[in-house]
Amino acid sequence: MNTTSMTDAPADASANRPVRVAVVGVGGWGKNLARNYGQIQNAELRYICDLEKSNLEALQPVCRPMACTTNFQEVINDPDVDAVVIATPAPTHHPLGMQALAAGKDVYIEKPFAMSSAEGRELIELAEKNKCVLMVGHLLEYHPVVEHLKELIDSGELGGIRYIYTQRLNLGTIRAEENALWNFAPHDISVILYLLGQQPTDISARGQAYLQPGVEDVMFMVMNFNDKAMGHVHVSWLDPHKTRKITIVGSKRMAVFDDLESTEKLKIYDKGAELNLDYNNFAEYVGLRFGDINIPHLRIGEPLRVECEHFLSCIRNRTTPRSDGYDGLRVLQVLEAADKSVSQGGDRVVIDKKNSDQIQ
Ligand SMILES: NC(=O)c1ccc[n+]([C@@H]2O[C@H](COP(=O)([O-])OP(=O)(O)OC[C@H]3O[C@@H](n4cnc5c(N)ncnc54)[C@H](O)[C@@H]3O)[C@@H](O)[C@H]2O)c1
Repeated sequence: MNTTSMTDAPADASANRPVRVAVVGVGGWGKNLARNYGQIQNAELRYICDLEKSNLEALQPVCRPMACTTNFQEVINDPDVDAVVIATPAPTHHPLGMQALAAGKDVYIEKPFAMSSAEGRELIELAEKNKCVLMVGHLLEYHPVVEHLKELIDSGELGGIRYIYTQRLNLGTIRAEENALWNFAPHDISVILYLLGQQPTDISARGQAYLQPGVEDVMFMVMNFNDKAMGHVHVSWLDPHKTRKITIVGSKRMAVFDDLESTEKLKIYDKGAELNLDYNNFAEYVGLRFGDINIPHLRIGEPLRVECEHFLSCIRNRTTPRSDGYDGLRVLQVLEAADKSVSQGGDRVVIDKKNSDQIQ
């Protein structure tokens, strides 16, 4: 998962000039990517591309691209485009990504980066063959709070991690192309895997499709890890509360990241439960500790800006992104296992780590 050097940069991608970027798909989310690439000094927003002309017209005065087009071929045939950023609906990620990589472009793809691990592997293989940077939009891996949590976990401040649970709940936006897990959970899964630095051994999940047949609106998924750590992901687009929370329970301390808090996003609880072997009664046997609550002061800019700058840096330095294709593939494997488990009534599904176990 560390940034590592890639070999043999494509011809002029590391030249001392702005990286020339095209953003494809400027709907609800892609317009944020376009705005960032329009603002970053060492990037040049060459194109915004969308099938909907009205989206292009609305965004053009905001982020001032050099050109607007409804034609994806025009983007990838242009030799003056270094990198293609894809924020179209999930089923189009693989076909558009493959075409951009075949044209030798460095490519960023929003989550979920493909609709199956077979598609994900094809994207990785083509990127490696053509020596292109391939990055997946796992935004939370670039969030300063997640960075801080990673430091706390790696330094042992939280103790051994017992479990992590995430809640990503909302009323809407309801999708037809993918279920709530594929739409929401890539963020949570990528964070849990990033924080723990390992893949789960097995998954079980339950979900229900209330609105559209075969498209689960609500999912509860449990991941088991080698060292008894567990991860639980709850996603729903039918919930009364908008919730974006990650809770980490360690043997020494506990942490809660509430992304909807405007300032105090992270709270560290000095709380715990320990067994005392020198005891006279049960109350002494189990010791509960209620300590202080610490709210670290973190400078939190826009995580999306950090993510965009990371992509540009990988292009310029020919390095592997933190959320590279393998990171995307590991998340796809979890999503596939969860779907399988749901279809089997919540049965435990073992994760096949073949071709994806590159967490370092
Ligand atoms: N990282 C995040 O936090 C985050 C947040 C929201 C959405 N997303 C992801 O971003 C992607 C897009 O989601 P959205 O909510 O913006 O969807 P959206 O439907 O609002 O926008 C998608 C846009 O893509 C355009 N499009 C479709 N096919 C195209 C093609 N072949 N060429 C050019 N344009 C095309 C559509 O016209 C539309 O404007 C999804 O993968 C979603 O999961 C990520």
